[in-house]
Amino acid sequence: MLRVEGLEVVYPNGTRALERTDLGFSPGAFTVLLGASGAGKSTLLRSLNGLVRPTSGRVTAGVGDIADKRRLRAHRSKTGMIFQQHQLIGRLSVLDNVLIGRLGFHSTLRTLLPFAAAEKREALQAIERVGLIQYALRRADQLSGGQQQRVGIARALVQKPSLVLADEPVASLDPATADRVLGLLHSICKADAIAAVVSLHQLDFARRYADRIIGLAGGSVVFDGPPSQLGRKEVVSIYRDMAPNAVEQHDEPDFQRKTGTYA
Ligand SMILES: Nc1ncnc2c1ncn2[C@@H]1O[C@H](COP(=O)(O)OP(=O)(O)OP(=O)(O)O)[C@@H](O)[C@H]1O
Ligand SMILES: [Mg+2]
Repeated sequence: MLRVEGLEVVYPNGTRALERTDLGFSPGAFTVLLGASGAGKSTLLRSLNGLVRPTSGRVTAGVGDIADKRRLRAHRSKTGMIFQQHQLIGRLSVLDNVLIGRLGFHSTLRTLLPFAAAEKREALQAIERVGLIQYALRRADQLSGGQQQRVGIARALVQKPSLVLADEPVASLDPATADRVLGLLHSICKADAIAAVVSLHQLDFARRYADRIIGLAGGSVVFDGPPSQLGRKEVVSIYRDMAPNAVEQHDEPDFQRKTGTYA
């Protein structure tokens, strides 16, 4: 169980990105973070992996605080990260990019040695699961955006994670491709009982895939519940920091286009 206790993040320039927040993340649940730009979604996600340090409060995984170096290493080895800009190495093959996901398991010395056959097999299995086996030896920069993001998912999978953190994983994809990639991520997480925390700008995807939606506004949690409880009023509270007339018209197509909230 991953927990956030009294977590507060103030960046060195004085920006209050996250107000005191308490949250628990259950094993296997698919959680979506919603919020306007600057609401604190990335800050929360990065805190869950120790990439952002708490100003006060703590993040615990299992029994211990991830501020502890050994606990952080153990936590990160079980946590797959997926980014908006997938962060693949373009000149490397799909297979090599996915194998990079295994590096967290090895000591520095071990990473200088070739990967074992068993690891290559696991990497190929992950590539097969995301439907890219015929591209395994192709350079990553020769794939489409959606295919590259699927490589990003495969790279997270070879870690055999119990948790996946994904920061706007489909933001740079067209709506149909975004739906397919997110659907794939969702079905794999469900099949393998992997907990996921995923930030999104699309309300319709949040409603379709989330077990739980956490809405952030101005660094505070303003909604926390299942999609069935996310009504018009709740949507307005999440996007309150947007232009007031836009919020009033939040069901209008114009608002939906500007915010990516296809309600
Ligand atoms: N490294 C940083 N240093 C200073 N301020 C930061 C830093 N990163 C983020 N912020 C600020 O913290 C607040 C929260 O930012 P965060 O990136 O968490 O928002 P977000 O919800 O992910 O937004 P977006 O939807 O645009 O990605 C914003 O006001 C942002 O400007
Ligand atoms: Mg962000």
